[in-house]
Amino acid sequence: MASEHQPDIEFSSAGYIAGGRPVLSAVSFSVAQGETMVLLGRSGSGKTTALKLINALLMPASGQVRVLGRATSAWDLIKLRRSIGYAIQDVGLFPHYTVEQNIALLPRLERWPGERLAGRVDELLQMVGLPRHDFARRYPDELSGGQRQRVGLARALALDPPILLLDEPFGALDPTTRTDLQAEFRRLTQTLHRTSVFVTHDAQEALAVAGRIAVLDSGRLAGVYTPREFLASSEQAVQPYLKMLRAARELSS
Ligand SMILES: Nc1ncnc2c1ncn2[C@@H]1O[C@H](COP(=O)(O)OP(=O)(O)OP(=O)(O)O)[C@@H](O)[C@H]1O
Ligand SMILES: [Mg+2]
Repeated sequence: MASEHQPDIEFSSAGYIAGGRPVLSAVSFSVAQGETMVLLGRSGSGKTTALKLINALLMPASGQVRVLGRATSAWDLIKLRRSIGYAIQDVGLFPHYTVEQNIALLPRLERWPGERLAGRVDELLQMVGLPRHDFARRYPDELSGGQRQRVGLARALALDPPILLLDEPFGALDPTTRTDLQAEFRRLTQTLHRTSVFVTHDAQEALAVAGRIAVLDSGRLAGVYTPREFLASSEQAVQPYLKMLRAARELSS
């Protein structure tokens, strides 16, 4: 199982094919324990597919994806998914469950006693900035898109898993709230020392949360960069992001 020197997540030449076409081709990278890896890429570049390979919703057609030292194909799926909190792209809350019930879903399946469960739900609501008295009893269709995303994030954090997968978790938020939550997320992952893979198509967001940034370009990995390396990269696939960052900087100055 996990050791200090072994990455928590490791793609080894992993490929995936859908509809007869390669969606991911020979992707190799690893995520160390406690590291936040951002997957940055345009729509359709294979980001969500990569996350699904990590929690074994999909299996690689070639190569391997290892989680905590073991190939996903060799994991007991229930145990694997218990180790992973997954905030999916379209949030996927249960519409007939309240906010509280949605967040409590996994701890309830784990048969947590009522008191512990209630305490955890309180903690999580506070973590994502949704005051209990106002939000706990609401249904998803009584929330804004951004509030729903926060519930999705709270649900992914519920069991305090060692690994977090976040698929554009802040996509529906206004820029100010988004910046706040990015900072909060960074603080959270650093203090809890959680390993995470964070998907975004926004370079600014990537730089705000990343330990390192893996750039996906049409299913291929263009490179893996620290924020500093990313900003100095001459790789072709990185240039459109640098251009956007420069444009944003010019607008704000
Ligand atoms: N079941 C499938 N059959 C055919 N093509 C698929 C299937 N699933 C995914 N694809 C294709 O694979 C590519 C990658 O999809 P994926 O969802 O991983 O992209 P993404 O980077 O997450 O995009 P977005 O930013 O829009 O969410 C897309 O071109 C998509 O159309
Ligand atoms: Mg996606």
